[in-house]
Amino acid sequence: MAFRRQLGVAVALTTLISASAGVEIDGSRHLWYDSPASDFSGSLPVGNGRVGGTLYCSPTETITWNENSVWSGTFSDRVNSNAAGSFPTVRESLVNGDISGAGSLAMSDMVGNPTSPRQYQVLANLAVDLGQGDDSGTDFVRYLDTLEGYAACEYGYDGVGYKRELIASAPSGVLGFRIQADTAGSINLSAYLERENYVQDNTATAADGVNSIVMTANTGDFDYMTFTAEVRVVVDEGTVTADGANLVVSGATTVDFFLDAESSFLYEDDAGREAELKSKLDAAAELGYDALREEAVDDHKTLAQRVTLDLGTSAGDATLPTNQRQENYRSSPDDDVQFATLLFNYGRHLLIASSRDTGDEGVPPGLQGLWNQDYEPSWGAKYTVNINLEMNYWPAETTNLQELTSPLWGLLSRVQQRGQDVAERMYSCPGFVLHHNTDLWGDAAPVDSGTQYSIWPMGGVWLALHMMEHYRFTGDKTFLEERAYPIFQDLFAFFECYLFDMDGYLTTGPSCSPENTFAVPDDQSQAGATEGLTLSPQMDNTLLFELFTALDETHQILGIADDLSETVKEYLNKTRPAQIGSGGQILEWIGEYAETEPGHRHFSPLFGLFPGSEMTPLVSSELADAAGVLLDHRLDSGGGSTGWSRVWAIALYARLYRGDDAWASVQTWAQTYLLANLWNSDAGEGSVFQIDGNFGYTGAIPELLLQSHAGVVHLLPALPAAVPTGSVTGLVARGGFEVSISWEGGALTEATITSLLGNELTLLVNGDAALFVDGEAYNGTIATEEGGEYTITV
Ligand SMILES: *[C@@H]1O[C@H](CO)[C@@H](O)[C@H](O)[C@H]1NC(C)=O
Ligand SMILES: *[C@@H]1O[C@H](CO)[C@@H](O)[C@H](O)[C@H]1NC(C)=O
Ligand SMILES: *[C@@H]1O[C@H](CO)[C@@H](O)[C@H](O)[C@H]1NC(C)=O
Repeated sequence: MAFRRQLGVAVALTTLISASAGVEIDGSRHLWYDSPASDFSGSLPVGNGRVGGTLYCSPTETITWNENSVWSGTFSDRVNSNAAGSFPTVRESLVNGDISGAGSLAMSDMVGNPTSPRQYQVLANLAVDLGQGDDSGTDFVRYLDTLEGYAACEYGYDGVGYKRELIASAPSGVLGFRIQADTAGSINLSAYLERENYVQDNTATAADGVNSIVMTANTGDFDYMTFTAEVRVVVDEGTVTADGANLVVSGATTVDFFLDAESSFLYEDDAGREAELKSKLDAAAELGYDALREEAVDDHKTLAQRVTLDLGTSAGDATLPTNQRQENYRSSPDDDVQFATLLFNYGRHLLIASSRDTGDEGVPPGLQGLWNQDYEPSWGAKYTVNINLEMNYWPAETTNLQELTSPLWGLLSRVQQRGQDVAERMYSCPGFVLHHNTDLWGDAAPVDSGTQYSIWPMGGVWLALHMMEHYRFTGDKTFLEERAYPIFQDLFAFFECYLFDMDGYLTTGPSCSPENTFAVPDDQSQAGATEGLTLSPQMDNTLLFELFTALDETHQILGIADDLSETVKEYLNKTRPAQIGSGGQILEWIGEYAETEPGHRHFSPLFGLFPGSEMTPLVSSELADAAGVLLDHRLDSGGGSTGWSRVWAIALYARLYRGDDAWASVQTWAQTYLLANLWNSDAGEGSVFQIDGNFGYTGAIPELLLQSHAGVVHLLPALPAAVPTGSVTGLVARGGFEVSISWEGGALTEATITSLLGNELTLLVNGDAALFVDGEAYNGTIATEEGGEYTITV
C-alpha cells in the first residue's frame, strides 16, 4: 500500500465543503503543492478533449483557457508553384551524387510558401480577483487528481476557508469552476476575461437571472478565425452586477462558473456559435455544479481506472509536495519509485483531458496538448509528424484508451483531402502526401526550410499506421474497412506513382532521415558538406514496409484478392531492406555516411524497433542486434537530449529486453526534463513545454511489462531490476487481450488474460520460463473463447 497523507485547511472547511474537503494524498495519483503556481508551467491542467484550462490558485486567479480549434487563421495554400517542375531535377541530382545541388533547388522550389502553416492560439484567461491582494493565504494546498481529472486548492484567508476547483466535463462539453467559502456570504469578487489581441467585444451582463461574460474575438488581422467565449456565473446568495467587462459578485458563499467557447472551425457564423454556447451553458447551469462535477468525475474515472499500475512503494515519503519529490528525485531516484507511477498516471490523465471523441472534425492534442498560453507558441504548438504527434498516441491502445484515438482520424481525413492536392501539385501523383508537419486544417505542404526535415513525404504513412494498430488492438473491422483501408489505398496510390526503381529496390527521394545530417561522402560532389537531403533513408524503407504490410494484412482480413492485393505483395518484396554498417550498426542513410551529429535526438533509423517491429528480437535477432549498436552509439554520443527523445529511448531499450537501460532513461527523463507541473520539456526548467514526452513516457512503460507486436503476448519482457515487485491491471495486447500481471522478486507470480475477441493466444514470459495456463502446462498457441479468462503462472 502506498503511504497516504491527509491534507486539509486548518480552518473549518468541513461544514460547507463536505464533498471533498481535505483530500487524501496518494503519491501515485496526486500532484500537489503548498503554494500557487508561479507561472504557466506550474499550473494544473484539466480538459474535456476540446476545451481546457489550467488552475494557478494565485491570489487573483488567472485560469489559462483554451479551445482546441482556435488557430491563427483559416487554411493557407502554401504549395510552391515551382515544385512539380523541379521535383524530377532534384531527384536526378541526388541520383547523380549532387546532394548539395539537390538540396539548394529543393529549398528554393519545393518548400512551402510561406514556409509555416497556422499556429495554435490561446483563447483567453479567466481572471477572478477575490480582493486578496498578493496574499496566497494560510494552510495552502493545491492539487490535481489524475484519477478523477480535476484540480483544486484550499486555503485560509482572513479567518475564512476557501476552496477553488476546476473541472472539465466531456459529456456536457464545458468547464466548471467553483469558488466556495466556509463562512456564509464572504465571497466578493470581480471576474473578467483577458485577451491581448483582436477582441471584438467583451461584455459582462447581469440581467433576468443570467449572469455572463461574453467575448467575441478574431485570431488575426486577415484570413482569421473567429470565436465566441462565454462564462456563465451562478451564485447561491448575494448579488451580481455587471460593470463593463467585469462581473461583480458580493456577499456570496458559493460562486459557480460554467465556461464554453465555440469557434468558426465548426460554426461559421455568429448565430451558429452563439446558439451552441447557449445550449451547452443553459444545460450546464440547469444541471448545476454538483451534478456537473459528478458527471465529469465519473466520466474521467471510467477511462482512467481501466489501468492500475503499482511499481512498488517508495522507500522515501511519496506524500511530500510534488516539487519536493521532484527535487529529491534528482539526487535519489531510487527512493521514490511511486514518482514514476505518478508520471504514468499523469500521462493518461493528460490524454483523457486532451483527446476525446468530439465528432468527425476532431482536433488531436498538438505539441502542447490542449494547453497553450501564447499567441505565437514555440513551433506554433502545431502537429509535427516525424515523431511528436505520433508519440502523443503511444499510450492510447496499450493503456486501454482506444476510443481516445478518434481525433487523430479526424485530422487524418483532413490531411488526406489537403494532401491529394499537394500530391498532384508537387509530385504530379494521385493519392495523398503529407510532409513533416500539419495544422488544424490538415495542411500537407512542406514546412520550414531545412534539408534535414522539410522534404519528407512520409508523414501520412506514419499516421496511417496508427489506424492499422487500432485494428490490431480492437479488431474493429468496420473501422478497418471504412476508415483505414481508404487511407491506405490512397497512400498506396501516391507511392505507386512516386517511388522509383534503383538497384532493383523501391526508392524514395528527395527525402531525409528526420532530422539528422551527414557529411557528403567522397564519391559525390561537394564532399564533406553537411547535408540532409537523400534517397531512401532507412526510416522511409521501414515505413513503406509497414504500410505495405498493413495493406497486405487488411486484404487478408477483409478477404480482398484483386490487382491491388497482388501489387502490394510485389511492393513488399521490393522494399529496400535495412543495411548493417561496418560497426554492426543499422545504417541511417542509403550509404554509410558519416553522421554530423552522432548523438542526434531523433531515432529515425530505429523506427523498426519502436514503434515498428521489424528490428525486434522475435522478428529478426540480426536487426535487433544492429539496432542495439546504433541505439547505444546514439546515447553514448549525447542522444536522448530532449524530453521526447529520452522517452523514445525507454521504449527502444524495452523492445531489446534491456529493462535496466530503459529504467536508466526513465530516471534521467524524470530528473531532467520535467517542469514544475510535471509537463515534459525540451531541456528542463525554463525550456519549452512539449507534451509529447508525457505521452511517450506513458506509452513506453507498458513496453517493459507487456509486448505483443510479434504475434506473441509477451509477459514481463523487460522488467527492470529496480522494480522487482509490482502489478498492473488492464493493459491491452494486440489480438484483443486485456492483461493483468503481478510479479515478485523479478518474476511473474500470476497473469490474467481476458480474451476480448476470441482470437488465438500465443504466450511467452520473461526469460522463456515454462508456463501454465489455468494450471495446465502451456504447449503452444491456444484457442480462446470470447470473454474467456485465462490464468497464467510459471
Ligand atoms: C464584501 O463587500 C461588501 C460590500 O462592499 C462589504 O460590506 C463586505 O465587507 C465585503 N466582504 C468581504 C469579506 O470583504
Ligand atoms: C521477390 O523477388 C524475387 C527477386 O527479386 C523473386 O525471385 C521472387 O519471386 C519475388 N517474390 C514474390 C512473392 O514476388
Ligand atoms: C504438447 O501437446 C501435444 C499435443 O497435445 C502433445 O503431443 C505433446 O506431448 C505436448 N508436449 C509437451 C512437452 O507437453
